[in-house]
Amino acid sequence: MTFPHFLFYMLSCVHFGYAKEKFFAAVYEHVPFFPVPNQAPVSPEEALSLMNRNIDILETAVVRAAQKGAHIIVTPEYAICCFSLNREEVFPYLEDIPEPTYYLFFGETQFNTPEEPEISTFNTPFGKFGMFICYDILFYYPAVALVTQHNVDTIIFTTAWFNLLPHYSAIQIHSSWAMAMGANLLSSNIHNISLGMTASSSIKWNLHASKIRNYPSGSNIFNGLLFADNYTFTELTDLEGEYTVCQNQLCCHLEFKMADKPKDEVYVLGVFDGLHTVEGEYYLQVCTFLKCQSTDIKSCGESVEQSSTKFKSFSLSGNFSTSYVFPEVLLSPVSLAPDMFQVLNDGRLISKESISTHPLLSVNLFGRWYERDPPRYS
Ligand SMILES: *[C@@H]1O[C@H](CO)[C@@H](O)[C@H](O)[C@H]1NC(C)=O
Ligand SMILES: *[C@@H]1O[C@H](CO)[C@@H](O)[C@H](O)[C@H]1NC(C)=O
Ligand SMILES: *[C@@H]1O[C@H](CO)[C@@H](O)[C@H](O)[C@H]1NC(C)=O
Repeated sequence: MTFPHFLFYMLSCVHFGYAKEKFFAAVYEHVPFFPVPNQAPVSPEEALSLMNRNIDILETAVVRAAQKGAHIIVTPEYAICCFSLNREEVFPYLEDIPEPTYYLFFGETQFNTPEEPEISTFNTPFGKFGMFICYDILFYYPAVALVTQHNVDTIIFTTAWFNLLPHYSAIQIHSSWAMAMGANLLSSNIHNISLGMTASSSIKWNLHASKIRNYPSGSNIFNGLLFADNYTFTELTDLEGEYTVCQNQLCCHLEFKMADKPKDEVYVLGVFDGLHTVEGEYYLQVCTFLKCQSTDIKSCGESVEQSSTKFKSFSLSGNFSTSYVFPEVLLSPVSLAPDMFQVLNDGRLISKESISTHPLLSVNLFGRWYERDPPRYS
């Protein structure tokens, strides 16, 4: 049996610029004891005893955080029980909740789906908080609505997030969401933690790219799958240059300078404008440039964790039809690039000088066109 290892993240109060008062937050991550799937359902007593083992761990964590002055602590989704159990197996662990709320991830059929998503907020002396769980982050309701319609400063985000490179690692998605929405996001994951808190302003995401006339038409255009989405790619064959790729209504534009170009590393500029249909349906508009898994261009879009190519500078933009665009920069080995890039008011995601000392994995403008999502609640 593995011993639950746990990690604490105490955050400096200065980070929480969006709340009315400064406060200390702790987010917590551990490896919970889980029941083994595909077993006969346990008795309610056995279920309680397993959950209590996890609750004891959480209790220790909460006490430690409180002693260090935390005003609030966030624990992960599935922190006490029931990851990947089916409906029969999960039953002894459950209590009846009269009106359940949340977007369930594809395949989470062990739980009932609510008829409508519920907005949950609460006020504290240090700001207004909203709450959502995991997959909710990809949707307008409840995630965006909490900030735009209910004016929360800080989101409590509890999750069991699978890292899926190049676009869906926890740190990428969660920090870029906080950045684009201008809200604090306190994220607690079973495996991976992410926090992103930087200022935002009102960005016209398509301003720069819409002004570009006569897009230089790329040669060497090809298609490739990224999480089953059919991207249009073009290879960055030179050490520096300007490239454009288009798909449907979206054109993505990249200006860049590489510091060097190792022979065994291939980078592409990519665009996707369409409905994502695997493990849930949601409409994406994405501009990305990324390292391909190998020198075979058929591998572009597949997961990659290491690179050695450094960029002196880059500027990525697209003529998006949505105003919900989430900027992401991922370094090698998989890590965020705080303070190494910025988003200009005209929608350009540009590097800062400090980027040139780190190898780059991918840079994305991850747009969500919520109005184009298929109806989920009818
Ligand atoms: C989070 O995921 C990254 C990338 O998969 C991995 O390198 C890192 O060790 C993980 N962190 C924790 C705390 O598990
Ligand atoms: C991706 O799109 C291109 C161009 O529309 C098409 O030729 C190709 O068959 C598609 N690939 C897949 C796997 O759907
Ligand atoms: C984006 O630019 C392309 C090329 O100029 C154009 O065909 C397309 O209509 C533009 N999209 C939008 C939403 O304006």
